[in-house]
Amino acid sequence: MGPLEKVPCVVSIVLFVLLFSSPKPASASASSEEANALLKWKASLQSANNSLLTSWTLPPRNGSGSSASVPCHWYGVSCNGEGSVIGMNLTNSSVSGTLESFSFFSFPNLAYMDFWFNQLSGSIPPQIEIFEPSTCNTNQLNGSIPQEISQLKSLSELALYTNRLSGPIPASLGNLSNLSALYLYGNQLSGFIPLEIGNLVNLVLLYMDHNNLTGPIPSTFVNLNRLNLLALFVNQLSGSIPQELGNLKSLKHLDLSQNQLNGTIPASLGNLSKLETLFLRDNQLSGPIPTEFGNLKNLLVFAMDTNQFFGHLPEICQGGKLQNVTVQNNQLTGPIPKSLRDCKSLVRVRLEGNQFTGSISEAFGVYPNLNYLDLSRNNFHGEISKNWSSCPRLQNLAMAGNNITGSIPPELGDSPQLQRLNLSSNHLIGKIPKELGKLNSLLELYLADNQHSGGIPTELGSLTKLQKLDLSKNRLSGPIAAGKLENCMQLINLNLSSNNFSQDIPEQLSKLPQLSTLDLSHNSLSGEIPSQIRSFQSLEWLSLSHNNLSGSIPKEFEDMHWLQHVDISYNELEGPIPSSKAFMNASIEALQGNKDLCGNVTGLKPCKNHVAENKKTSRHNRTLILIIVLPLGGALLLLGAFIGLLIMFDRRKRKAEADNPEDAELYSISVFDGRAMYDAILKATKDFDATYCIGKGGYGTVYKAELPSANVVAVKKLHPLSEKDDRQGFLNEVRALTEIRHRNIVKLFGYCSHAQHSFLVYEYLEKGSLATILSRDEEAQHLDWPKRVQIIKGVGHALSYMHHDCTPPIVHRDISSSNILIDEEYEAHVSDFGTAKLLKLDSSNWSALAGTYGYVAPALEVIKGTHPGDFVSSLSTRAVEKIYS
Ligand SMILES: *[C@@H]1O[C@H](CO)[C@@H](O)[C@H](O)[C@H]1NC(C)=O
Ligand SMILES: *[C@@H]1O[C@H](CO)[C@@H](O)[C@H](O)[C@H]1NC(C)=O
Ligand SMILES: *[C@@H]1O[C@H](CO)[C@@H](O)[C@H](O)[C@H]1NC(C)=O
Ligand SMILES: *[C@@H]1O[C@H](CO)[C@@H](O)[C@H](O)[C@H]1NC(C)=O
Ligand SMILES: *[C@@H]1O[C@H](CO)[C@@H](O)[C@H](O)[C@H]1NC(C)=O
Ligand SMILES: *[C@@H]1O[C@H](CO)[C@@H](O)[C@H](O)[C@H]1NC(C)=O
Ligand SMILES: *[C@@H]1O[C@H](CO)[C@@H](O)[C@H](O)[C@H]1NC(C)=O
Ligand SMILES: *[C@@H]1O[C@H](CO)[C@@H](O)[C@H](O)[C@H]1NC(C)=O
Ligand SMILES: *[C@@H]1O[C@H](CO)[C@@H](O)[C@H](O)[C@H]1NC(C)=O
Repeated sequence: MGPLEKVPCVVSIVLFVLLFSSPKPASASASSEEANALLKWKASLQSANNSLLTSWTLPPRNGSGSSASVPCHWYGVSCNGEGSVIGMNLTNSSVSGTLESFSFFSFPNLAYMDFWFNQLSGSIPPQIEIFEPSTCNTNQLNGSIPQEISQLKSLSELALYTNRLSGPIPASLGNLSNLSALYLYGNQLSGFIPLEIGNLVNLVLLYMDHNNLTGPIPSTFVNLNRLNLLALFVNQLSGSIPQELGNLKSLKHLDLSQNQLNGTIPASLGNLSKLETLFLRDNQLSGPIPTEFGNLKNLLVFAMDTNQFFGHLPEICQGGKLQNVTVQNNQLTGPIPKSLRDCKSLVRVRLEGNQFTGSISEAFGVYPNLNYLDLSRNNFHGEISKNWSSCPRLQNLAMAGNNITGSIPPELGDSPQLQRLNLSSNHLIGKIPKELGKLNSLLELYLADNQHSGGIPTELGSLTKLQKLDLSKNRLSGPIAAGKLENCMQLINLNLSSNNFSQDIPEQLSKLPQLSTLDLSHNSLSGEIPSQIRSFQSLEWLSLSHNNLSGSIPKEFEDMHWLQHVDISYNELEGPIPSSKAFMNASIEALQGNKDLCGNVTGLKPCKNHVAENKKTSRHNRTLILIIVLPLGGALLLLGAFIGLLIMFDRRKRKAEADNPEDAELYSISVFDGRAMYDAILKATKDFDATYCIGKGGYGTVYKAELPSANVVAVKKLHPLSEKDDRQGFLNEVRALTEIRHRNIVKLFGYCSHAQHSFLVYEYLEKGSLATILSRDEEAQHLDWPKRVQIIKGVGHALSYMHHDCTPPIVHRDISSSNILIDEEYEAHVSDFGTAKLLKLDSSNWSALAGTYGYVAPALEVIKGTHPGDFVSSLSTRAVEKIYS
């Protein structure tokens, strides 16, 4: 939001500034009273002896000298010429305690107190003894603003923000007639705003936002004619906006957003000629926006969205300064006012979700600073202007859901900054212009629900940053493969449904490493579902329904661990459905209308022996792999020992599970038994004692664990999974990673998670990381050129394997010398493959580089022997990827 928005500070920090005016004469006795009052407060603090307050002591009474100036030499204390305290600044002084014993009224000349960044807590001191000894009681006052504060008549500024103050605002605050600034934001204050606040005629700044205030805005505010800023947003204020606010001639910033205000806006607000920012968003205001707002010539921000305004938008850019106009989600009608069309200063314009009319090409001009424009869900008609490419800063252009006709102007391709283009749900015709392939910042392209024809232009394959592409509900035809979309390596969502695409599902699409939803339904696709489908490592949602796909469903679906939803209905498919979660949980609606499918799903006929056979072969395969891998593993005799361990633990596990229901709390997947391994690792590392720590990485701390069986493993300790994480998805992913075996990839044995600890268990490599070796001169000298080349080759093999070969592609996203481990033969073993994704379950974030940012080039480091630093950050990620993939 605008300049009124304040980010609340940490609650335990108390900032308390008091500014008095009108100094009073001091005497020597008054000064010693001040010293004693400070000492009394010091004695109440918990940490006084350790803090900077050690200088706060009385000198020995030896008769000479006066005690008048005693506190003036104390840390943080300032005095006036007469030796009386005028200020205290204890910012960041390790003071911890409360202000309850601080006797404000012993300091007649105190002008400011700054206690920022200490550990002060509790309530504001009520000064019980001085004012109302019989009625007050600290427990009742705890957390609320004490009435007594109103006795500080000369207070000019009161800041009580981002505390935990609750209860009502005392009406007696209205007695602080010298107050020019009142900061009460970010508390839990409740009740009505006292009418008496209207007595604070000297008020310039009034912040009451982010509280729980109810009731109306007092019309007594009419008297606050010096008020510059009024912030009441994020409360529960109700009723209508009092027309008296129109009298606040000095007002520059008004924010009443996020309340429950209703009724119409009083036309008197049009008198606030100094107004720069006006936020009335997210209320229940209705009626027309007063035409008098045309008088607000200094307006920079006009935020009226999410109300029920109707009628025309007034001429709000008469002053030519307006930057941000957000009036979305109202019921505004009529054309875009001329002053807005000609408003060159515009930066952010949100008009979506209204009923604006007019020709879209005539309603807007060219804006040098425009960054964000959303015109969606209105009644604009006409053709898209080619002028949009003359808005050099435009990043977001949305016009979905209008009555726009004609074709997309090829000139739109000349908008190098454009990140989001949404033209969905209009009446656009013609081909998708190949020039859109020039939009090299584009992240999202939505052209759905139009009447585009022809094929997908090959040029769209150049959109290397594209994450979301929706071309559904058009009349597109030809093979999908023509679009070369497999080059859009960042694609997360791809929707080509409800077109007339024909031929095969291109198997190249399975190279898209981030793709998580794919909708190819309602087309004329034929042929078999390619078995490369398993390479869709990230796919969560897949629809192939209403095509002409034939043959059997590839069993490889069983390897797609993230797949949650699948729809293959209305094709020509036959045979057993794969026994993966997505299929087993599918409803019959997602499977029906095929030729001859069978399986254990209600509504399908059971397969004859198929299911049992499938299960048998898959288990058989697994055992086979484990046996084959042993000789391949070479140095990994270790793994052999592990399998021995596995068999042993596996027996114990079954037994343990039978008589120990507690096991349910432990989530594990492994080539070993989770519970036994968990206990063994805790024991071997003495509960992750620091002495067993061998390194710290981006994802956790690594420990060396020597197990009772004399095997050594590296254990990477992680934060435990939270409840909301997709535990099953996570476990499936780890399971997939444990199945990877390659001589240049550090073997992941498994994962254990318990309420206390979560960790990944890896193969242990004696020589440690490349980073360590390079950092030690002697070891680095042993690393001659052939060895260095061998290391780089090894890393290359690992990356190539993970990106292209047998397994689904897995991107590392944080290759650095600290996760390249070296064995006795100087062979490189890359660790942490897949960890980036594993620890960020939100798949939409996968496009970001994880881990050691700006540093993805160990090859250079191996050659140079030192960190290549800025040289690498200057390369684009894409260039770096090229080197390695
Ligand atoms: C207008 O909006 C932009 C983008 O949100 C913001 O950076 C800018 O500060 C806003 N202008 C004003 C005057 O608040
Ligand atoms: C601080 O020191 C004074 C004198 O040295 C002592 O009387 C007092 O108990 C100490 N306070 C705390 C909290 O340790
Ligand atoms: C007595 O106080 C004076 C000033 O306050 C100081 O300079 C002097 O050293 C003190 N004498 C003794 C014996 O403490
Ligand atoms: C108190 O001191 C800090 C740092 O020394 C300074 O930033 C702050 O402005 C001071 N506060 C007042 C009210 O002078
Ligand atoms: C407080 O003081 C410490 C030590 O002098 C310093 O490291 C720290 O940055 C300071 N914190 C703030 C918020 O000023
Ligand atoms: C705010 O007030 C409402 C109703 O008066 C109450 O239900 C709610 O708990 C309060 N919220 C806070 C944070 O005090
Ligand atoms: C505004 O809301 C109040 C209740 O908070 C209701 O009594 C009043 O009728 C509403 N006024 C309008 C104009 O909707
Ligand atoms: C589009 O325009 C036609 C006539 O030009 C009109 O009937 C229809 O309601 C308009 N549709 C929308 C969504 O505005
Ligand atoms: C079919 O599925 C149900 C529930 O998922 C299961 O209990 C049953 O054993 C399965 N039947 C066969 C033959 O696999």
